[in-house]
Amino acid sequence: MDERLIEVRDLDKAYRPKTFLRAKGEAKLANQGINLDIYQGEVLGLVGESGSGKSTLGRLLLGFESPTSGQIRYFPDQEGTQVDFKPQIVFQNNLAAMNPQLSVLDVVAEPLLRTQSRAEAREAAKDYLEQVGIPEDKWSHRPRSFSGGQLQRVNIARALADQPNFIVLDEPVSALDVSVQASIINLLMDLQEAHQLTYLFITHDLSIARVISDRIAVMKEGHLVEVQATEALFDNPQEAYTRDLLAAIPSLKV
Ligand SMILES: Nc1ncnc2c1ncn2[C@@H]1O[C@H](COP(=O)(O)OP(=O)(O)OP(=O)(O)O)[C@@H](O)[C@H]1O
Ligand SMILES: [Mg+2]
Repeated sequence: MDERLIEVRDLDKAYRPKTFLRAKGEAKLANQGINLDIYQGEVLGLVGESGSGKSTLGRLLLGFESPTSGQIRYFPDQEGTQVDFKPQIVFQNNLAAMNPQLSVLDVVAEPLLRTQSRAEAREAAKDYLEQVGIPEDKWSHRPRSFSGGQLQRVNIARALADQPNFIVLDEPVSALDVSVQASIINLLMDLQEAHQLTYLFITHDLSIARVISDRIAVMKEGHLVEVQATEALFDNPQEAYTRDLLAAIPSLKV
């Protein structure tokens, strides 16, 4: 697990104030001085309270936005290597990202049509729907007839069909019931192993982060305050802020 996939150095992201009411020039730093390495094949949990900058970091890593300063390097970056860096994202709100007129088979096939024939894309989509556990008799159904958990499976199938090697999962189970959360987490862990994926798993829920993550990064007010192997973080948190977060987990309270 020591081949680097992503290297982040001195990363800042500032947002300009959205309203006229804010003092002029008072840009908010959503990410500040971030240094982080992400290794191939690992699940890196990213935790922290609302507004701490988790999604901002995810978007920067995906290249959806540019840093204000600092660098992000992706590996392998030498010419002639077979494996390209290929990111994908899975959000919490999955229905909004789907065309309601399409069957879920076509929802998964749709992004593949850029490079494949319709028949090829649909064959591939069937394979991915099978991998995420959507039964064949549901493939022709529209997204709105699915439960939240089933929809998230479709969403995951669509991300997988792009054959990424890095997936940002931004609160992928936060909207789901606890029992459904567990089945989606298990699916994500199986897929990660089967496809040798690297995950950035964003969550405000430390018990979920603990189950899925090899390492956990803790954010506070735009800063990365601590990054540790999961069990080391729980056994021996280095920062007071991490201790506060751990103390707030209901199941860990004495
Ligand atoms: N596009 C934007 N324009 C202006 N400010 C933004 C923008 N995106 C995020 N911010 C601000 O940056 C800070 C970090 O936001 P971000 O969404 O990254 O936090 P988060 O940790 O993902 O929070 P949550 O757990 O609520 O999703 C917040 O103060 C937010 O208001
Ligand atoms: Mg967020």
